[in-house]
Amino acid sequence: MGRLEGKTAIITGAARGIGRAFAARYAEEGARVAIADINVEAAEEAAAEIGGGAIAVHLDVTDQASIDAAVREAQERLGGIDILVNNAALFDLAPIVEITRESYERLFSINVAGTLFMMQAVARSMIARGKGGKIINMASQAGRRGEPLVAVYCATKAAVISLTQSAGLDLIKHRINVNAIAPGVVDGEHWDGVDALFAKYENRPLGEKKRLVGEAVPYGRMGRPEDLTGMAVFLASEEAEYIVAQTYNVDGGNWMS
Ligand SMILES: NC(=O)c1ccc[n+]([C@@H]2O[C@H](COP(=O)([O-])OP(=O)(O)OC[C@H]3O[C@@H](n4cnc5c(N)ncnc54)[C@H](O)[C@@H]3O)[C@@H](O)[C@H]2O)c1
Repeated sequence: MGRLEGKTAIITGAARGIGRAFAARYAEEGARVAIADINVEAAEEAAAEIGGGAIAVHLDVTDQASIDAAVREAQERLGGIDILVNNAALFDLAPIVEITRESYERLFSINVAGTLFMMQAVARSMIARGKGGKIINMASQAGRRGEPLVAVYCATKAAVISLTQSAGLDLIKHRINVNAIAPGVVDGEHWDGVDALFAKYENRPLGEKKRLVGEAVPYGRMGRPEDLTGMAVFLASEEAEYIVAQTYNVDGGNWMS
């Protein structure tokens, strides 16, 4: 028996990276997963490769109609939703004097409003079903402290930690556990983009920032999406029943709190 046998999950931004690794591991543990992403072609490929009844759902977390439609579709095709992972996010980087309103609004719209209104839509569905549920938000070490070039992204992830606390306290009366995971630096396409931005603003050769952040991790290397799947399964399982409104660092020792 898998640890999520008979459960259903919707994971946002699961067409690639960490969300995709979560979808694959949840399927291995017996869950049926909706891979919800703005890139629906990549979501369909991921669902086909993962198998185990995984489905692809189109979702733009910045659009309320898209959130409502995606949650309704996942609920109908999976027969109810037990687990939500709010994983979709965008990164950007600029010194304070160069931050644009457009970048600020885009990041808050995806990382913060997207997380809040996905929680709301799925919580409504879970409350109506009456079986409780598990919600996991993807925070970051960036939400634990500021960084000189990363003000907006850091602020969005601090907001995710705060929303996790408030929603966790509000929804536990419905037996919905809301918790978060704060990764450190995780290799993949996302960090290729981060590295390119640091190369531009810190005048470095491509790849150097990535090497340096990896060397600085107490564990001795950057994270891999698979390093996070154990916590994602645990927080989605019945074993996490008494855990409410917490954010767990899974970062090779980068941050202590
Ligand atoms: N990679 C890291 O080092 C790292 C570190 C800390 C936290 N995190 C967090 O972990 C999560 C996953 O990170 P990742 O590295 O896998 O990211 P990623 O960029 O590889 O994947 C993000 C996914 O979100 C999707 N997406 C983007 N905008 C969307 C929208 N409007 N609606 C729906 N989907 C959308 C993308 O298509 C993509 O599939 C994010 O919340 C990120 O902030 C990542």
